Amino acid sequence: MKVVVTGGAGFIGTAVLRSLAGSGDEVVVVDSLRPDVHADGGAGARERVASLGARLVEADVRDLAAVHEQLRGVDAVVHLAAKVGLGVDLDDMDDYVSSNSLGTATVLRACHLAGVRRVVQASSMVVYGEGAYRCHLDGAVAPSPRTPERLSSGEFEPVCPHCGADLDPALVDEGAPMDPRNTYAATKVAQEQLASVWARETGGTCTSLRLHNVYGPGMPRATPYAGVAAIFWSAAAEGQSPQVFEDGGQRRDFVHVDDVAMAFVAALSRDGGGHAAYNVGSGAVHTIGDLATELASLAGGPDPTVTGRYRLGDVRHITASSDRAARELGWRATRSLRTGLRNLSFS
Ligand code: UD1
Repeated sequence: MKVVVTGGAGFIGTAVLRSLAGSGDEVVVVDSLRPDVHADGGAGARERVASLGARLVEADVRDLAAVHEQLRGVDAVVHLAAKVGLGVDLDDMDDYVSSNSLGTATVLRACHLAGVRRVVQASSMVVYGEGAYRCHLDGAVAPSPRTPERLSSGEFEPVCPHCGADLDPALVDEGAPMDPRNTYAATKVAQEQLASVWARETGGTCTSLRLHNVYGPGMPRATPYAGVAAIFWSAAAEGQSPQVFEDGGQRRDFVHVDDVAMAFVAALSRDGGGHAAYNVGSGAVHTIGDLATELASLAGGPDPTVTGRYRLGDVRHITASSDRAARELGWRATRSLRTGLRNLSFS
């Protein structure tokens, strides 16, 4: 099989290349080596891609001609190239839309032009917004976005939109409504919707993997665009105290990058056609406070500081059921957080 991996020089892309290496597949990476991800100008990434037996084409996925040229004779595309993270502020908005929504539209159009009929795309659990909750009076509810007033007074938990009661977080499944709460999330919804249109119109197969919080070797260093595991690990490794936002009770599902890579490999041979989305999580729930404590102790550094600060675009709890991926893709995560945190490193 010949596979193109967009964004294949990044954190998750590198793990996908590792999983594909040795499979006999011919792998071509299309990556722009954007400077906000590859601060060293891309030297490390060039070496990594070559060492994993893939060919690197330095091109932006918004460049239709460049992508199209790489798709001749290709069986499948893994589309990872994106601007990730929560971002800094609204000044990031157009770059997210351009990098992610336009980037995906261009890749899908190039697939159409080249006759590629199989795409696996990186989506995110952020498409669910606040996710699933239960109210002891009103049953299953979808809470409204948390207001700055409540957050600044330290009331971090969302409440029942009907009766104002406290809620119990539940596991989201793929049937939960999409409800993006920040720009990045909105572009992930757009990517999935474009993929669905493409699959319907071309008769192709597109699989969106709704990744939970990915961590592991090769994580990017702390930037406003990095996930919390990378930020805490950077702080701890420098002898500083990880800065925990809110009260540290936020729940997440941390999934190891090598497990995520195997989900992409499994999705490449999904039967069934059309567009389908799958949650990709470890199945275990942890709090942000627990993660900070674990990383601080692994690094032998100072205890975390719980700051009470907040980011308006953050959701409180988001944890998923990945049972559909197990049933239909035959994929399940194999690493616990404790084991997975033992061999962290930066790209
Ligand atoms: C993260 C990713 C998102 C990805 C999703 C699923 C980022 C910024 N977010 O979303 O792109 O789609 O996982 O893989 O990469 N926090 C702290 N201290 C910090 C930073 C964050 O306490 O220094 C807290 C946040 O307030 C939040 C939690 O940690 O409650 C998770 O933050 P983060 O990893 O940034 O975002 P997610 O919403 O989980």
